[in-house]
Amino acid sequence: MLKTTAHSMARTAVAAGLAALLMTGAATHAATAATATADDGLPNVTILATGGTIAGTGATSTTTVGYTAAKVGVDKLIEAVPELKKVANVKGEQVFQIASENMTNEHWLKLAKRVNELLAQKDVDGIVITHGTDTIEETAYFLNLTVKSTKPVVIVGAMRPSTAISADGPVNLYNAVTLAGSKDAVGKGVLVSLNDQINAGRDVTKTNTSTADTFRTPELGFLGYMQDNKAHFYRQVVRKHTAEAEFDISNLDSLPQVDIVYGYANNNRTALDALVKAGAKGIIHAGVGDGSLSNAMKPGLVDARKQGVVIVRSSRVGNGIVARNGEANDDELDFVASDTLNPQKARILLMLALTRTTDTKAIQKMFYTY
Ligand code: DGL
Repeated sequence: MLKTTAHSMARTAVAAGLAALLMTGAATHAATAATATADDGLPNVTILATGGTIAGTGATSTTTVGYTAAKVGVDKLIEAVPELKKVANVKGEQVFQIASENMTNEHWLKLAKRVNELLAQKDVDGIVITHGTDTIEETAYFLNLTVKSTKPVVIVGAMRPSTAISADGPVNLYNAVTLAGSKDAVGKGVLVSLNDQINAGRDVTKTNTSTADTFRTPELGFLGYMQDNKAHFYRQVVRKHTAEAEFDISNLDSLPQVDIVYGYANNNRTALDALVKAGAKGIIHAGVGDGSLSNAMKPGLVDARKQGVVIVRSSRVGNGIVARNGEANDDELDFVASDTLNPQKARILLMLALTRTTDTKAIQKMFYTY
């Protein structure tokens, strides 16, 4: 009995010791796990800075127009929002520092290649791009067609410089990093998030020259909202994008020249002829109404087509479908209809289309696909 008792006491002591050890071990493990969870639990988000108002400075705190864009570096942008550390493990890179009206095809190729390099890394869960608001909608659509990953890519800007009272940059950046680290943003295509709203890169457009609520998707609507440190999605884009897109820019150092001519009453073909002479491979016609062609412009477009220039009929209206064979006989003219893409976005799709084909039937299919 004694022996049994002693033995059982020993076993109990050993068991208790083991339990304590395990508990400690477990506790340590749990702590480690907890610590690891704390470190590993947060998504890894890289911020690629390109300039714009979000990096802008004004002479006074009340200067909200007439400031200088693209002055503040990515490290300072991150330092200004210490709360970022609560939502993600953040790293920053200054890809370039420009006011976005100066964005070029070369900037887009550099940015898209860096995004694809980073997203191919297992330790990168999402990307935020800080950007001037003037051409955010174009960069967003270009990346929507060239990013080769389903990981979140969120483009963010600001309508007030970093030095302004109630600068919107810091909260926009916080929301963008939260969104880029959100599993709900995976597979949604390139997103544009300012003013607590989430827009699709394909459809978003700048609708006001100066106010904080400028980015909208006028008729097709927001994808959702950023609220209470969380992304709230209510719909998603049905057109192909990112990993499903056929375009590969990895070996491109330039893009085909595509230009836009604007339609208006009493217009003429002078600018069009000059652009074709300068070597445009594609022309987007930003027509009135449903992409209508004036009698003054149409012959210029026909002549350009005869020289092998691909013509896309878009509309200056900004919403709605430009219908094939609607205001012009596209079958007979061998033109392409832009569907719902506005002129600046139609230009991007045509540029990328021309890296793959000049066949107008194939290009029209692309305008119905992306
Ligand atoms: N220069 C404009 C740009 O960089 C300022 C507009 C802005 O970023 O909000 O797009």
